[in-house]
Amino acid sequence: MDSISSYFSTTSTQPLFIQGDAYSVLKKFPDRCINMAITSPPYWGKREYDNGGIGLEKEHDEFIERLLEIIYEIRRVLTEDGSFWLDIGDTYRKKSLIGIPWRLAIRMMDEQKWILRNEIIWNKVKGGLDNTKDKLGNVHEPIFHFVKNQKYYYDADAIRNNPQKAKVKNGKVISATGVSGVRYRRQIELSTALSNMEKQEAYSALDDILKQVSENRISDFRMIIRGQQRTTHSNSEKVSGRAKELRDKGYYFLKYHPKGSKPRDVWDIIPEDTQNRKSHFAPFPEDICKIPILATCPQSGIVLDPFMGTGTSMIVANALNRKSIGIDISEDYIELAKERIPKQLSLEENYV
Ligand SMILES: C[S@@+](CC[C@H](N)C(=O)[O-])C[C@H]1O[C@@H](n2cnc3c(N)ncnc32)[C@H](O)[C@@H]1O
Repeated sequence: MDSISSYFSTTSTQPLFIQGDAYSVLKKFPDRCINMAITSPPYWGKREYDNGGIGLEKEHDEFIERLLEIIYEIRRVLTEDGSFWLDIGDTYRKKSLIGIPWRLAIRMMDEQKWILRNEIIWNKVKGGLDNTKDKLGNVHEPIFHFVKNQKYYYDADAIRNNPQKAKVKNGKVISATGVSGVRYRRQIELSTALSNMEKQEAYSALDDILKQVSENRISDFRMIIRGQQRTTHSNSEKVSGRAKELRDKGYYFLKYHPKGSKPRDVWDIIPEDTQNRKSHFAPFPEDICKIPILATCPQSGIVLDPFMGTGTSMIVANALNRKSIGIDISEDYIELAKERIPKQLSLEENYV
């Protein structure tokens, strides 16, 4: 496959689209040439895409078997520090949820030695139409973050929510969430659980941490004082180093990261409006791809989506200045994806 080998040496972030069956196409890739993969395979037994493809097997075991073959190839083509993000939906049969996502995830860990770092709950916020009268409406889907090895590329700073800055009011520093130290100082003063010596040390530690806030070395903090606040983890000194600190010193601090907090593992993202798309049922919302690409694909790396559909992963990779390779069995979707790319180039400024 000449186009593949020449793509590795280009510097352009223009995506490479390959039409074909994911397994046969990936078989032609060299080992360890991709930094990060993100994909959403078809649901089992739910939808028919052009040209057949996977998802139409009679039994779910067969579907999982075929996916595992493709996923084995994804693992092979990933660099040793690579990541694989898998968005996979479930299906009901004879009234029962089958549990496809976890059946697959467990086999990936047991048989292919994947390490599962996160299960993200994608809360679609608005559920689809559900006229059943004997169960709740379904509104979420799991997204798994797998890695090949315990050490892997992860740029947590690239995905942090920007911290709010501290303010100075009447000469006093106030943290982003309004902590000025006044309440803590009062609690120390009135404490019957601290000795005089401990009180002096707690005052001076409080002054010191407020200075760190004013210098933007930390964005915020909470102070835990013996007898005043409940310990954050556990009161048992056996399990919590902080409980031990509280016993020995009379206080401790919880410091917020100066660069902001990390996203959590529940994402509220409304599915793409499918009305405007020609003939594709389940495109990714672009927000699904943004965190995975920023955190786990280095700037000079390559993103892979082996079931790329209308190419959302490629569009986001391109906007974030990463190279990407998309595979789909359907020629029509490849064409749709190609059409989407130039129009989306201007999105870059929204992302960085
Ligand atoms: C859920 S869609 C992916 C949607 C995509 N994330 C997007 O943003 O448009 C699954 C895609 O897998 C493709 N597909 C099914 N079987 C395939 C196979 N064996 N090899 C490659 N693509 C396949 C389908 O054509 C479909 O476009």
